Amino acid sequence: MIFVQMLIGKLMNFTYLIGDKDSGLAAVIDPADDADGILKEAEKYNLKIIYIINTHAHFDHIMANGDLASKTKAKIIMHEKSEAMKDLSVKDDDIIEIGKLKMRVIHTPGHTPESICLLIDKKLLTGDTLFVGSCGRTDLQGGDPKELYNSLSKLMKLDDDVEIYPGHDYGNKPCSTIGYEKGHNYALSFRTKEGFIRFMGGSL
Ligand SMILES: [Fe+2]
Repeated sequence: MIFVQMLIGKLMNFTYLIGDKDSGLAAVIDPADDADGILKEAEKYNLKIIYIINTHAHFDHIMANGDLASKTKAKIIMHEKSEAMKDLSVKDDDIIEIGKLKMRVIHTPGHTPESICLLIDKKLLTGDTLFVGSCGRTDLQGGDPKELYNSLSKLMKLDDDVEIYPGHDYGNKPCSTIGYEKGHNYALSFRTKEGFIRFMGGSL
């Protein structure tokens, strides 16, 4: 598997290029801007981008969708709850195939209703649900601390050696693991759901 993490823009977004070496097919996750830079990276590995997948529809995660789609003819994929422009809808537990690679969709509402995480082998792309050292905010439209608590609990059931790759470079390192975050992430340190909800400013 070809796996490239790109830091793009002033909001420190991470865009990911994931390619299958054998078939030469690839997906771009959360193209934050700079479609030409992403295309150059794909050319470097001889990859044809067939999917653009967004972990959620906030503008900084979909900014280059249009430009990239028109230059590659790639299909745009989002969770079915997203109201943004897309070609294909996915739901929890769906599998997206990129050549021989299989990527599992995990629906993780809370930051937004349509937020998803994507699991490919032992790599989990967490969007704005889970960051290194923290979690996504829930005070924007559609945010819900109760849902985010449930979604984070769902992610913590994955194996400790699953690597996490977030949607922003907000932590002290660009990626981490489920096991490390369990011991070091404040958002995962609350003993009760109520404690987490209160901390996030939500009502019980
Ligand atoms: Fe976001």
